Amino acid sequence: MAAFQPHTKLSFIFCVFLVQSLILKQGVSVNGGGITSKFVRKVEKAIDMPLESDVHITQGDHEGRAVIVSWVTMEEPGSKKVIYWKVNSKEKKSASGKVNKYKYYNYTSGYIHHCTIKHLEYDTKYYYQVGIGQSPRTFWFSTPPKVGPDVPYTFGLIGDLGQSYDSNATLTHYEKNPTKGQTVLFVGDLSYADNYPNHDNTRWDTWGRFVERSTAYQPWIWTVGNHEIDFAPEIGETRPFKPFKNRYRTPYKASNSTAPFWYSIKRGPAYIIVLSSYSAYGKYTPQYKWLEDELPKVDRTETPWLIVLLHSPWYNSYNYHYMEGETMRVMYEPWFVQYKVDVVFAGHVHAYERSGPRLLVMTEPQPDYSAFREASFGHAIFDIKNRTHAYYSWHRNQDGYAVNADSMWFFNRCWHPVDESTGVDV
Ligand SMILES: *[C@@H]1O[C@H](CO)[C@@H](O)[C@H](O)[C@H]1NC(C)=O
Ligand SMILES: *[C@@H]1O[C@H](CO)[C@@H](O)[C@H](O)[C@H]1NC(C)=O
Ligand SMILES: *[C@@H]1O[C@H](CO)[C@@H](O)[C@H](O)[C@H]1NC(C)=O
Ligand SMILES: *[C@@H]1O[C@H](CO)[C@@H](O)[C@H](O)[C@H]1NC(C)=O
Repeated sequence: MAAFQPHTKLSFIFCVFLVQSLILKQGVSVNGGGITSKFVRKVEKAIDMPLESDVHITQGDHEGRAVIVSWVTMEEPGSKKVIYWKVNSKEKKSASGKVNKYKYYNYTSGYIHHCTIKHLEYDTKYYYQVGIGQSPRTFWFSTPPKVGPDVPYTFGLIGDLGQSYDSNATLTHYEKNPTKGQTVLFVGDLSYADNYPNHDNTRWDTWGRFVERSTAYQPWIWTVGNHEIDFAPEIGETRPFKPFKNRYRTPYKASNSTAPFWYSIKRGPAYIIVLSSYSAYGKYTPQYKWLEDELPKVDRTETPWLIVLLHSPWYNSYNYHYMEGETMRVMYEPWFVQYKVDVVFAGHVHAYERSGPRLLVMTEPQPDYSAFREASFGHAIFDIKNRTHAYYSWHRNQDGYAVNADSMWFFNRCWHPVDESTGVDV
């Protein structure tokens, strides 16, 4: 244990929370394992069906005043425009985006649209419309409050979602939670299309339609997981992250990142750093250099809460995926301690574990750092109250919507440091 001594007084708490998709893993060809639309297109088109689907939004800049709207049209590209207006305002504005298609083995995607709406007002509800001139569909979102230390903000946490009945239960529980999440921090593994033959990319389409009921109305902040890699040289697909990169956008350029898989945003009281467990992170790599430059930029008087998202947890006492996050931990943990990262959210293990202040690496029995763990699906809420306090709660799918299976207060590392070595026999 001597090797781990330096870490026993780490001043951040590492939170693993996990979710979904065991059923999907086993159930690729099982009927009922996913959600398959019964819609069959008629041979002759009578009237155009509403074409736009898979509508999703994410933050589009560094401060929270821009939104990237994405959607897919299957048969024709349609308009690239988004029309948007403030609630109670008659003044409509429009923005124009770009459209792309991609091929993956023998799959050809629909027309994928991405359009960034900029210069929005903070803390304001907007309506927006896609499918202009054809079959308009209207959605809405609320912008975050102006970046600042004492603005409350509530994040939802979901990862490893997939598209099984359990996935639907997770999303429903998130939606019905009496504490309403305003933005989802998604910790990787979206559609699990790669579990199907030839990474059947129609599963990306069905996933996009499944989550639209949430992703069209609040931003989901994307982290890549192993199921986004889609590296399949055996079928000629050698560009990692191809489907993800075509379908999902992240505002990485706004934080001077050079790739969409690692980036940062500010949102209300939080500074969120997204890392990629599946991109190079060793010394001298682009991700390493970016993070090295990034951490000193965080001004805790402006954004007291420093949150990191990544897919493969650094502390995980389950046998499944055990130690996969270890090399990244060794690289970056000292920085996280130095810069007082408040919380790291990870996914990947499909069960739930919260690491307490004591950080050791062992497998069985349950190590000291694992304050609470269970193998179940669910979502979490990270409810920032002010610069000192945030309330974290974990909700399992088996419980009623309002039940917290596990919860705790988080105290800000800069504004309310507490001595976590207390009670821990080092
Ligand atoms: C792609 O190939 C698979 C197997 O080779 C086949 O089952 C499927 O129908 C093909 N899909 C398309 C769109 O051609
Ligand atoms: C998914 O959840 C929604 C909301 O609870 C429900 O209306 C719908 O029937 C569910 N879908 C399936 C396929 O179970
Ligand atoms: C990105 O780099 C530019 C030019 O060096 C700098 O002005 C800007 O502040 C940087 N943005 C962030 C978010 O670090
Ligand atoms: C911050 O929030 C906590 C929890 O709601 C509360 O106890 C505390 O008084 C708040 N601090 C300030 C300065 O308002």
